[in-house]
Amino acid sequence: MLTVEVELGERSYPIFIGAGLLTESELAAKVGASVLRPGKVVIVTNEVVAPLYLAKLESFFAGRDCASIILRDGEEHKTLAAVSEIYEFLLSNKYDRHTTLVALGGGVIGDITGFAAATYLRGIDFAQVPTTLLAQVDSSVGGKTGVNHPLGKNMIGAFYQPRCVIADTDVLKTLPEREVKAGLAEVTKYGLIRDRDFFEWLASHAAALNDCDPDLMAQVIQTCCQVKADVVAEDERETGVRALLNLGHTFGHAIETASGYGTWLHGETVAMGTVMAADLSARIGWLSQQDAQFIRRVLEENFGMPVVPPADITTERYLDLMASDKKTEAGKLRFVLLRAIGEGVVASDIELDQLTSTLEAGDRLCE
Ligand code: NAD
Ligand code: GLY
Repeated sequence: MLTVEVELGERSYPIFIGAGLLTESELAAKVGASVLRPGKVVIVTNEVVAPLYLAKLESFFAGRDCASIILRDGEEHKTLAAVSEIYEFLLSNKYDRHTTLVALGGGVIGDITGFAAATYLRGIDFAQVPTTLLAQVDSSVGGKTGVNHPLGKNMIGAFYQPRCVIADTDVLKTLPEREVKAGLAEVTKYGLIRDRDFFEWLASHAAALNDCDPDLMAQVIQTCCQVKADVVAEDERETGVRALLNLGHTFGHAIETASGYGTWLHGETVAMGTVMAADLSARIGWLSQQDAQFIRRVLEENFGMPVVPPADITTERYLDLMASDKKTEAGKLRFVLLRAIGEGVVASDIELDQLTSTLEAGDRLCE
């Protein structure tokens, strides 16, 4: 088992990574005795993940009073209504402040459950058991929790850290191929913003990664979690460096909102947004054309990501949706761009005509 520690003083917590963790009795004993506080456990999962892993996780918590809530599956259900379902279950069954919520699922379940934990009785403990690659390398770590609003993605939420993260790589075996690829695209973000060698390594190991080779996956998850843990330890509430983790998100969230939640996978819109960010970075003279094309090629050919934005989103619609981006300051759009592969930078003074050229490039991005 590999362990990464998120260092946040008294709110520090471990991320456990490895194959078969959900059936590891030693880990279960350790988590039960010294990671989680005593009290009841309520597992929150969804209708897809429950038949696969709920019984296993209930056994992991054998000895505790353990109940479960099964929500509907899908990004379109990442709403306040889902959070309310959790409140209703907890309130009607009189769960007190000593309860721990455990999120069993992908980023959607993790974000909803974390937000319910942050707000129920003004805050109860929670733990993350991420079951998608995207959730194991990103969303389960760092304490961003929340739900979507029809007017914008992830607009309602709280920073609230879990007590621990348990990333069992065995669960990736049942993940649909499209989800694996979307998770791998999210992995490339860590290389693009911080570490060119890692990006190139990912490109050259794409075939084994797409096959979910267990050793490689554990290694990749550890690398990503370590980068994320370092960034979060430095800037938990995103006043600075944490914004870099949003590479591709300003464009991506606009596409996700405009297309309707659930049409594109989150990782796909982020990859699409990353190609747009690479295009803009090249247009303003930061990134070489060659590197911009390399990024597009890796995302498209190695990880099967879309690299042509939907034709029906007008420039005006993009600008309107991007104006609600959480990075916007005093009405000024801010983008995560690349000075080079491995060097992400937050940029705010982008000329409108350059931005418009990227938004209107269609299938000619990064050319
Ligand atoms: P998801 O949670 O919708 O999961 C994808 C699909 O896979 C779902 O249908 C799910 O039920 C299914 N699934 C999950 N685990 C499975 C398994 N092991 N086997 C088979 N099927 C399985 O999507 P996601 O990509 O995990 O997460 C995307 C969400 O995460 C978005 O809402 C995004 O905003 C959020 N996110 C949050 C953060 C953060 O820091 N909090 C970071 C990145 C993304
Ligand atoms: N996924 C971006 C962040 O956690 O900051």
